[in-house]
Amino acid sequence: MFGTEMGFAVDYATRMEQTRFFVDSLRPAQLRSYVDPMVQEVENYFAKWGEQGVVDLKYEFEELLMLISSRCLVGKEVREKMFGEFCTLFHEIEEGVNFASFMFPYIPIPVNRRRDRARIRLKGIISEVVRSRKIFNSVEDDVLQRFIDSTYKGGRGTTVEEVSGMMLGLIFAGKHTSAMTTTWTGACLLSHAKYFDAALEEQKQIIRKYNGNIDYNILSEMVTLHSCIKEAARMHPALPTLVRQVKKDSIVRTKEGHEYVIPRGDTLVNLVMVNNRLAHIYKDPMVYDPDRFRPGREEDKAGGKFSYTSFGGGRHACGGEAYAYMQIKIIFSHLLRNFEMELISSFPKPDWSKFLPEPKGKVMVSYKRCHLPSM
Ligand code: HEM
Repeated sequence: MFGTEMGFAVDYATRMEQTRFFVDSLRPAQLRSYVDPMVQEVENYFAKWGEQGVVDLKYEFEELLMLISSRCLVGKEVREKMFGEFCTLFHEIEEGVNFASFMFPYIPIPVNRRRDRARIRLKGIISEVVRSRKIFNSVEDDVLQRFIDSTYKGGRGTTVEEVSGMMLGLIFAGKHTSAMTTTWTGACLLSHAKYFDAALEEQKQIIRKYNGNIDYNILSEMVTLHSCIKEAARMHPALPTLVRQVKKDSIVRTKEGHEYVIPRGDTLVNLVMVNNRLAHIYKDPMVYDPDRFRPGREEDKAGGKFSYTSFGGGRHACGGEAYAYMQIKIIFSHLLRNFEMELISSFPKPDWSKFLPEPKGKVMVSYKRCHLPSM
């Protein structure tokens, strides 16, 4: 989907190395440097809201997450000079993710044509930025730069085409998933006063302790907010299925003690929403209860390392999980500190007509500016 130089279009060894580039560019040491630009994007975005008003959270978070992605992942050239075009083209790629295109990715229907044209132009835009950085020896602090500087075992550097393909793949992996998880978290918090108040109280304490500042370590202390996001993602996973091919005959043992052999070559599908709602793992699984992850309960560990699969698992687990939590926490820290909010539409249902399920319809929220003390 993002060209012939990356992902499943390349051989296994190359793909594994590219996965390493993804993971390396999102390690904690690198993540620290993305906090300030994320905070700036979030502050600028919400500065445009009025004193009070009504917004569709889903729309707002899609916009904001695209801004953050373009700034921290692709870099300031795209963010400052061609954000509008980048955004429109990226939307055309997202439109190309639907059931018809999944079954028939190459049939010449308008949505596939637009997707392919958009991909070519987007890769062109990113390639121009990469070439320009190389020509002028300019070095930026973003993920694009880390891809440019990555080397394969044996010392070969990445090509411009590989970098542009990997970058598109990364934005695709992270933007919609983060926007939907942020929207579900907002809807859950605004309909569960107990946890909204707990997240707000945590912000008050953190503001007092750190005088209103935010950095990587301070974000790590937001454990209540973290659990609220994690629980929203448990109940409303952004990716509904995980698919794996069985590499060797494997034995699976049920909780009743029955054993089944899954033969080599079979394809396994993990239905994330079912997995995350197993009643023998999660107490009252249909109830929004962020406390289930607290020490002493830790229900997500009760059934082993695959009890919680909203971020995948195993070798291909989400490489951007920490980055995703960071940006979502920054968004909610800002909202909790600066706005009173109320959900005025009903709690959204998942829209199963979409290839990637999302909250159905608009998620309407009324807001009013306020400021927590000592900020
Ligand atoms: C709340 C937001 C997110 C959710 C729920 C999420 C979920 C997932 C899941 C379930 C997978 C595994 C897919 C599979 O096994 O088929 C995955 C893979 C991946 N995610 Fe995320 N993701 C999120 C955000 C991000 C972000 C922000 C980035 C990057 C900036 C990112 C980068 C990746 C990458 C590179 C992979 C592929 C890993 C591999 O194949 O080795 N994700 N994500």
